[in-house]
Amino acid sequence: MDNKNPVEGILSLKGKRKITVLTAYDFPTASIVDKAGIDIILIGDSLANVVLGLESTTHVGMAEMLHHAKAVRRGVKEALLVADMPYSAYQTRPEEAVENARKFIDEAGCQAVKIEWFDRAPEVTRAIVASGIPVMGHIGLTPQTADQLGGFKVQGKDAQAAKRLIGQALEFEKEGSFAIVLECIPDALSGLISKKIQIPTIGCGGGASCDGQVLVISDLLGLTQGHRPKFVKQYADLSAVILEAVKAFKDEVTQGKFPGPEHSFTIKEEELKKIDDR
Ligand code: KIV
Repeated sequence: MDNKNPVEGILSLKGKRKITVLTAYDFPTASIVDKAGIDIILIGDSLANVVLGLESTTHVGMAEMLHHAKAVRRGVKEALLVADMPYSAYQTRPEEAVENARKFIDEAGCQAVKIEWFDRAPEVTRAIVASGIPVMGHIGLTPQTADQLGGFKVQGKDAQAAKRLIGQALEFEKEGSFAIVLECIPDALSGLISKKIQIPTIGCGGGASCDGQVLVISDLLGLTQGHRPKFVKQYADLSAVILEAVKAFKDEVTQGKFPGPEHSFTIKEEELKKIDDR
């Protein structure tokens, strides 16, 4: 990857090899994901659901996103660091969107931002890109406005809806985005979009035809509670590992097995005697 211009590095991967993207929300996870050689680390606003226990991604704001972005930054040496713009930070005025995008760069050390499609997305993308900040687009099932899309459903299933999504991808590209997330759309439609645009498409339930793939790290690791979408592949069951470890701690403490001498500190007997007034 081109370290001087990491965005160019990502663009150059299209057609050469698949691009890998994962979310991270904290320092230790970000360090591991980066060490594994993942191309892009996204501080997703999925933070709301998978870390903060909130119902909707619209419930996180700039304060929470910046707090976690700073922690992730400390763990990342190689990957391109992208921050998800929270709903309230850009679906208002383009000037406000630019100000908030700038905070991710200047205060948290991110290198790019991601915005979801909405009617003013082209205008907002143009303004952020003009200010020198790279933008990743996001179309298809856009969680921040899922209620306007009939809920968390596959998008682009008929010709009219598919054409709309192709139009959105072309708009994002025209306004200077460097990549686009395609969430929950048919694989064949992802293939069409990926051929029509020069910038990489990153699938999140977009099928194998995308130029890269993104997953929420908590889903991949088996840390997410409740419903798991069809497009998620769980590569580990950390919930079970954590549960076993916590139960073992509880048992050992209650049975007096932990801490043993190897986890305890000593003091010389003569020092003890000096304070021993029993
Ligand atoms: O918020 C998020 O984690 C995302 C990815 C799933 C693309 O937007």
